[in-house]
Parts: sequence; structure tokens; C-alpha cells
Amino acid sequence: MIISRKGSVNIENICASLKKLAEYGAEAISRSGDVLVVSHIDADGLTAAGVICTALSRRGIDHTPLFFKQLTKNELESIADVGSDLVVFTDLGSGMIREISALGIKAVIADHHRPGSTERCGGIVHINPHLVGGDGATQISGSGTAFLLANALGKNEDLSALAVVGAVGDLQDLSSGRLVGLNRRIIETGSRAGVLSFGPDIKLFGKQTRPVFKMLEYSTDPYIPGLSGDEEACISFLKEIGIRLGGERWRRWIDLDQDERARIVSALIRHGLRSGIPGFRLERLVGEVYTLTREREGTELRDASEFSTLLNATARYGHSRTGLDVCLGDRDGALEDARLLLSQHRQNLLNGIKLVKERGLIQLSNIQYFDAGEDILDTIVGIVAGMVFQMADRSKPILAFASAPDGMLKVSARGTQDLVRAGLDLSRAVSASAGEVGGVGGGHTIAAGATIPPQSRDEFLSIIDRIVGEQLNRNRSA
Ligand code: C5P
Ligand code: C5P
Ligand code: ZN
Repeated sequence: MIISRKGSVNIENICASLKKLAEYGAEAISRSGDVLVVSHIDADGLTAAGVICTALSRRGIDHTPLFFKQLTKNELESIADVGSDLVVFTDLGSGMIREISALGIKAVIADHHRPGSTERCGGIVHINPHLVGGDGATQISGSGTAFLLANALGKNEDLSALAVVGAVGDLQDLSSGRLVGLNRRIIETGSRAGVLSFGPDIKLFGKQTRPVFKMLEYSTDPYIPGLSGDEEACISFLKEIGIRLGGERWRRWIDLDQDERARIVSALIRHGLRSGIPGFRLERLVGEVYTLTREREGTELRDASEFSTLLNATARYGHSRTGLDVCLGDRDGALEDARLLLSQHRQNLLNGIKLVKERGLIQLSNIQYFDAGEDILDTIVGIVAGMVFQMADRSKPILAFASAPDGMLKVSARGTQDLVRAGLDLSRAVSASAGEVGGVGGGHTIAAGATIPPQSRDEFLSIIDRIVGEQLNRNRSA
């Protein structure tokens, strides 16, 4: 196996090494009786579980799925108490590998978060890009590593579609405007298997499902000054450039021809430049988009990004079974339930953004933050932080706090690729600062999270402000 500094290992080698690890994982699964599948409550975690559960069903292996917001020692103890032959952790587990091993849990971990340890741990097969010189924030997601494992278990190339939904759900395409690294291999596999197509397009939510003027009106990501939230302005904007809004029914983005689409994109760029607001950035508006060609046109499931938002609307609100059932192919009851949850989720995101805009961000030397208290759910405060950050000063990372139901304080942190290049590592900064105040955290260089005791918020802030300052200055002077 090749272990090397990030960036110095080519993608062929990373791919070959991960596939080897996935084969070990598949062997461990083949030797065991029943399997407990433990995954994360977001789009990537749901799709990862969907991939593995489908692959296990196809092999006739008994399995039970379980979802967690994060893995703590208590939760690991409850997992150990289930007493299953083997636990397959997807989209989480790497950060707690030592604790999993210490509890004597036999496990396969298919994850992409920065590992708590890169050492070999007894009884555990660990599949993670960071072990082989890869990057888990951009090159492969939890559902991507689960897909490699599924492919080692059998012929499961069609599941690449779910793996792409997971990668897009984790915003792995954000920095480059397209999926890169191992994710590229996965979309190519999907394209060959006839389940995916991809190409440049507008990235707004609702291409498949909403009238074009509604797609503009409800655009929060990116937020379009002068159009977002203003139906009349959106209608006149489209009329001015000669777009027919409807005939027998409202026209959606997918109903427009190439020329009409190009006209809208050009007009949006002109509008964005004229508005002079820094939050309007071209790479948020256009980029590569991914179509699930076996899903019905005009449904959320046809577009990887809309699919991932639909999934986030389930498990983040305690409805993980609904999201999983959609991943497993339920296109009736579970899909209807998920759609109801989706409209509430989109409203919650809009309310969250509005709240932060009203209250503003508090500036420290090296970070900026807001504290939502009870007003934004701890399970979506990270998404809101990411959206607000798109329209904010991007020279400092953003932190967000929200009260968690267990009395703890949830922290979410987001950075930019430029800051990461300058030395920022939010995973290390957040986990070290949380550790100092009796909390736990982890994640990726560009995005991380933690839970901490609520009374330690200000101490946590001053520690992380210092660490981020050190990370950025150290590399600048290097
Ligand atoms: O838990 P997990 O790894 O699945 O989540 C990754 C998180 O990183 C997502 O919440 C995503 O929003 C965030 N991210 C980001 N910017 C990027 C890449 C990922 O905010 N460029
Ligand atoms: O919760 P949030 O979206 O802010 O999480 C950002 C990233 O940090 C995700 O990849 C998540 O899995 C990770 N995280 C973590 N440990 C925590 C909280 C979040 O590894 N306690
Ligand atoms: Zn993930």
C-alpha cells in the first residue's frame, strides 16, 4: 500500500490501494453471518447505507441498518451490545477506530473522514482514502467508499448512481465545479452502466421539478440578489429576455431548449455582476451536474443534487428509514413522505439564512461565527453555515453554534479551498479545540464539526481562533 503526502500519489495508485482494502472488507463480510450496518444521518450516509444494504441483499446476507448523528463511546457500547457477527460502518467510524477496536467490535469501516488513527487495529478492515494518500473531502465520499466495497462483494455497478448522490450531497464538487479524483471513476462507471449522465448546466435547485420562475425565486444556493425571494422580479426578469413561462402548464428548466437556457444563464451573470454583491459567484451558478437516467424525468430523484436534498430532509429530522427506503428503490409511500419532509426542510433552511442575516456574524481575528441557540436545528446548522458563508466574507472560516437536544452545544465549521491551501485544517482545529474543553469533533480540512459543553463556548472560540491563526500564519511564512 502506498502511504504518502497528500497530492503526491496518483489517482491510479489510490484507486488500486482502496480496491485492495475493499476486497479485504468483502472477505470479512463473506465470512460472517449477520451484519449490522451503521451509518450517518445525512445524504452521504443514507446513500452509503443504501449501497451496502442493496449489495448485502443481492448476496443473501442478513443485515440490519442503524443511523447515528455521530458516534460517541455510549453509542459504540450500544452497538457492541447488539452482538452481531460484524458491523459495517459507512460514512463514519474512522474517527473512532481505536474505540471500536477497544470494544472488541469486529468491523469493516468504509469512511472518508480524517481517521483517528492510521495504525492497523485488531479485528477491523479500514477502507479510507486518507490511508492511501487520497483526500476524503473532494476525491471520494462515504457512499463512494461503500460503493468500492459493494463492487468487491459482487457486480453492483448500477449503485454508482447512489454513490454520486452521496458525493454531491457532501458538496464534493463544490471547489472544482465538478467531481474529481475517484469520484470521476465512479461517474464513468455509472455512465458505462447506463445509470448516469453528466455535463455542464445550471446548478439551481428545482431544474426537474419547478417552474423556471419558481426555481429562481427559491434559489438560496446561490442567493441571487434582487431575484431570490421575489416572484414578481423573477417573472419580469424572464419576460425581459423573451422566455415564455408556460402554456398549458408552467415550463420547467428541463422543458427549455438550449438557446433559452443559455439566454437565462447569460442574463443571470450580467445581473450578478451588476448587483456587485460578493455572494454572487459564477461557480455556484453553473458547473457539472449529474443526472440519474433511470429515474423518472421531472422528479427530484432524476438530479443528484435534488436527490441529496430530499435525503437530507429525512434522516436529519429523525426519519432515516424513509430516506433509506427511497435509496433502496421505494418510489411510493417513502418517496411521498420524503417529499413532504422536503418542503419543510427547504423552509427551515430559508428561515435559518434569514435569521443569520438579521443577526449578523460576529468577527474574531481569524474566524467569524454566529450562535443560533435554539432557533436552528443542530442537524441542519452546518448546511445553513455553508449557505451563509457563500454570501459572506470568505477570508476567514465560519463557525456556527446550535443547541443540541442532549444539552450539548453543536459546532459546525466551514472553510474554503483557498484557506485550505493556505494551511487551514478545520478537522484538526475543531477536534483539538473541542478536546481541550471536554468535547469531541472531527471531519475534513474544509468542513468539520463538534459537540462541546455549552458553558465552554467562549473558551472554545478563543482556542480555535488561535489555532486557525497559527495554521494560516505558519504556512504563509513557510
Ligand atoms: O459528514 P460528511 O463528511 O458527510 O460531510 C461533509 C460536509 O462537508 C458536508 O456537510 C459539506 O457541506 C461540507 N463541505 C463543504 N465544502 C466543501 C466540501 C464539503 O462545506 N467544499
Ligand atoms: O455537522 P456538520 O455538517 O457541521 O459536519 C461537518 C463535518 O464534520 C462532517 O463531515 C461531519 O461528519 C464531521 N463531524 C465530525 N464529528 C462531529 C461533528 C461533525 O466528524 N462531532
Ligand atoms: Zn460523508
